[in-house]
Amino acid sequence: MQAMFHALDSAQDSASLESIRIDTIGKKGLLTERFAKLKSLPEEEKKQIAKTLNTLRKEFEGRLAIKQQELESKELESTLSAQGIDVSLFNLRSKRSIGHPINYTKDKIIEFFTRMGYELCEGPLVEDDFHNFSALNLPEYHPARDMQDTFYFHDDKLLRTHTSPVQIRTMLAQKPPIKMICPGETFRRDYDLTHSPMFHQVEGLVVDRAGVVSFAHLKYVLESFLHYMFGDVKVRFRSSFFPFTEPSAEVDISCVFCQSDGCRVCSHTGWLEVLGCGMVDDNVFRAVGYEEVSGYAFGMGVERLCMLSLGIGDLRSFFETDLRLLEQF
Ligand code: DAH
Repeated sequence: MQAMFHALDSAQDSASLESIRIDTIGKKGLLTERFAKLKSLPEEEKKQIAKTLNTLRKEFEGRLAIKQQELESKELESTLSAQGIDVSLFNLRSKRSIGHPINYTKDKIIEFFTRMGYELCEGPLVEDDFHNFSALNLPEYHPARDMQDTFYFHDDKLLRTHTSPVQIRTMLAQKPPIKMICPGETFRRDYDLTHSPMFHQVEGLVVDRAGVVSFAHLKYVLESFLHYMFGDVKVRFRSSFFPFTEPSAEVDISCVFCQSDGCRVCSHTGWLEVLGCGMVDDNVFRAVGYEEVSGYAFGMGVERLCMLSLGIGDLRSFFETDLRLLEQF
């Protein structure tokens, strides 16, 4: 056995260490065979020898583990120095990436509006009923609350279902004129091909003295924005309903996948819905104590704009951190 310990201590590489391991505690190893021979011994002797053998095996295994680690790190070191990696060397093959598609899209949206003079605002993710609903003309028991499957906490707190509460916070904190956008995370109890429980929106709000801002301005800004995002597409405003705007509209672009011929993505309509907007409802102004003002607001889903502009089919892939998706960008 001493010879085995000696061989172990003087092993020079992991291959020879492995053969020492096999020769000692492998299936037909020295120690293993000694254990096997125990059977034929008388009881008293068997106990004593077994004890010695167990001590030997423990010691062998302990020293083996230490030696293994020592040799492995030595070998790693010598491979690395043999390969001669120069980490300061510029890698011509490295690809430039746009980063995560969601951040890329969000930043692109922010870029457009900040260049148009919109201020960047933020608000809390945990909201209360007042800011998320009632001040936005969605009083308790209003059926439109159903449109937004909400995560509630116990005490009037909830995860914001949209970025619209930041309109309320901004109006309460500032005086008109206001011209802001608010990008951020939003939450709803939804999970399928086109919905995830956490998603991103960008909200926009412009308020000025009564009569200064009109639907025409809103239309111009959003049309310019959609051309910036999607290039040469047709844009249409479709009359719709949101509690916080009156009149309200949903905005569609001509389908970027089939050029309006009709395909699965646009449900054969030739149009893709991309955002909601309208003139701020008087009840919203009343809730924040504003008088003699007019304004417009809009809201859009970043995931949706990202999927349409980069041609990504399944929204869930944004959150699966699969490098195969990220590498494409
Ligand atoms: N908050 C709406 C939603 O989450 C989006 C929206 C629509 C925001 C119209 C607006 C708006 O400011 O005017 O579905």
